[in-house]
Amino acid sequence: MERDSTALVTGGGRGIGQAICAELAARGNDIVIADLDEEEMASTVDLVEAEGRRALALQTDLKHLDSVETAVETALGEFGTIEHLVNNAGIAGPTSACEQISSEEWDETLAVNLRGPFYTCRTLLPPMKSAGYGRIVNIASVTGKRPLTKRTPYATTKMGLIGFTRTLAAEVGEHDINVNAVCPGSVDGPRIRQVFEQKAEATGQSYEAVRQSAENESPRQELVTREDIANAVAFLCSSDADRITGQDLNVSAGKVMY
Ligand SMILES: NC(=O)c1ccc[n+]([C@@H]2O[C@H](COP(=O)([O-])OP(=O)(O)OC[C@H]3O[C@@H](n4cnc5c(N)ncnc54)[C@H](O)[C@@H]3O)[C@@H](O)[C@H]2O)c1
Repeated sequence: MERDSTALVTGGGRGIGQAICAELAARGNDIVIADLDEEEMASTVDLVEAEGRRALALQTDLKHLDSVETAVETALGEFGTIEHLVNNAGIAGPTSACEQISSEEWDETLAVNLRGPFYTCRTLLPPMKSAGYGRIVNIASVTGKRPLTKRTPYATTKMGLIGFTRTLAAEVGEHDINVNAVCPGSVDGPRIRQVFEQKAEATGQSYEAVRQSAENESPRQELVTREDIANAVAFLCSSDADRITGQDLNVSAGKVMY
């Protein structure tokens, strides 16, 4: 990140989003953290400030347009411009057979994972177009590339997010706004452990067996780290990636190759 910039990261309070905030701060960004969970954001603020950058934590619910608009307005009031938007927040949704998933579970998963990025882009594109510059990175998943049984709402959102990425990239490229997706494989940490536990329960396998089979899906026989994802995001926000747009970059230790 060669220029002094500001990045807005959704779901930056913990997990992958927190690692993205820390990496973007280390590369010269002030950081706006937009997360539902107010308490979680304090530790991210500390990490950003430790890099000598300013941090603004804004309690935001991506399910509601007015909440997103308020956050963006507050952030622009504080920093003037926002060059980088990372749509990272996401929920796992239910782990169930399709016919057992409720309308509420379906709607909530789509509202956070797919409508949320639409709301942030809808709100930030006018100032990015006025500035004639923007870098948007959507955190999809390798589940946006291939099926994941018993996770239909989640898979639908991640496949949709890749379609959104390509279409928006085609729409806004002339304004020097790039839109890319990063597709993580299984990232080691509390969230994936919870997903493995749910899968173990749903399929009658042990936790260890589920984890081992996830590791075996990678040619490297391993999961990826939060920092691997953060590095890919930082690259896509840097001038090294100026002519990369509309892409979906797998960071999966080779688990998915297309
Ligand atoms: N962890 C993995 O293995 C993995 C793999 C592939 C893709 N991903 C994707 O990476 C992203 C981050 O995953 P993670 O593992 O760090 O998740 P996480 O659950 O640890 O963190 C998600 C963050 O999003 C926030 N959030 C949830 N709902 C929100 C809402 N309505 N409004 C604002 N913020 C909200 C949460 O408060 C939390 O801080 C997600 O989009 C996820 O689908 C994760």
